[in-house]
Amino acid sequence: MKKQLRVGFVGCGEATQALHTPALNSLASLYRIAACTDASAEVMAQVASRTGARPIERPLDLINDPDVDVVLIATPDMYHSDYALAACTAKKKAVLVEKPMTLNPRMAREIARASDETGVPVLVGYVHVYDPAVRRAAELWGETGFFNYGQFRCFLGPNEKYTADDILQTIRPAMADRWPGLINQLSLAAVSTELLGTGVEVKYVVGHALLRGLVIHDIPVMRRLLGEPVKVDYASIRAMGPPMSEVGMAIDVMFDYGQGRVLLQAEFEKMKVTDWGFQLRRDDLHLHVQYPPTFAAAAPSTCKAIYEKNGMTVEEIHGGRYETGFRCEWKHIYDVVTAGVAPIASAQDAVKDLELVDEIITVAVKSGN
Ligand SMILES: NC(=O)c1ccc[n+]([C@@H]2O[C@H](COP(=O)([O-])OP(=O)(O)OC[C@H]3O[C@@H](n4cnc5c(N)ncnc54)[C@H](O)[C@@H]3O)[C@@H](O)[C@H]2O)c1
Repeated sequence: MKKQLRVGFVGCGEATQALHTPALNSLASLYRIAACTDASAEVMAQVASRTGARPIERPLDLINDPDVDVVLIATPDMYHSDYALAACTAKKKAVLVEKPMTLNPRMAREIARASDETGVPVLVGYVHVYDPAVRRAAELWGETGFFNYGQFRCFLGPNEKYTADDILQTIRPAMADRWPGLINQLSLAAVSTELLGTGVEVKYVVGHALLRGLVIHDIPVMRRLLGEPVKVDYASIRAMGPPMSEVGMAIDVMFDYGQGRVLLQAEFEKMKVTDWGFQLRRDDLHLHVQYPPTFAAAAPSTCKAIYEKNGMTVEEIHGGRYETGFRCEWKHIYDVVTAGVAPIASAQDAVKDLELVDEIITVAVKSGN
């Protein structure tokens, strides 16, 4: 029988309740939810009673608890680095930090260094990197360098339009307990100021936050399939509106890959839409990958491969019908801990994602786009 690893939740909000808990429950032979902590005592108590986890009031006590093997860090972003560093010092078997791993490359390098020095694997919760459809796309694509076209797109409606459904039934902090999230929002400006100075337009601060908070999902997938871009050729951040009170944002980026160009586009829409995935084309193979809405936790991604064989154009669909990115993420962490498999999305690798985010916003600001 396999040994169960004991997971501790640091932050028990929507991601923990709606995404990680169902994945872990479906992998009960590998994991037991052993402990949980949250800045809201009410959320912590309710998650403890639903999952059977032991509530631990102080996050650092949970991280240092010898009966917790693997820590999930799913607090607002600005708290990720302190807890990830503490989990390395506590010599946990592994740490899963929700994306973005931290707020900028400087802090990311600190986590990568702590992971190297302590030997604690720190993995980042880029769910699509672990997705079966993306893995299949990477296998089909292979190492071939030459390609004609790449397009990554992240067109998403507001999370609330999915999470408001009764089906999720997440427990939210009471108004009085919302202050850590509000402080997190305030930290956004400070992060952009460190990179861009104080004189930038507010659209760049918002665009920087959206790149770091959402579009960052697409960057490690692009790098996994195509390697490192030579540079960011073009970047623009624009508001989609009016009315101004309901304005959405759009981000367009063109990467220079030497022999090819890759377009990355993101739009934050008002409608309940999810058009999220990528297309890659080269002479002998086209790939179309489509991700499901994040909060429909049971839905799989699909990878359509198009190629020619015996004079026919073949279209194949590869989909993990009963498999999801979140389950694969946790299965991979189990292999990292018990079989020494190298992490797919490590802290060391995530430094590059945050560097690219900073390069994109810097190009946009310099060009005034
Ligand atoms: N992988 C994905 O697809 C995905 C989806 C949603 C969110 N996320 C990420 O997960 C993280 C959490 O997002 P969420 O949507 O669950 O947010 P949330 O606001 O629903 O939950 C955050 C929880 O953390 C608690 N908290 C705040 N500060 C804390 C602290 N210092 N110590 C302990 N607990 C604290 C809050 O009380 C709240 O319950 C974010 O980093 C977000 O980017 C990832």
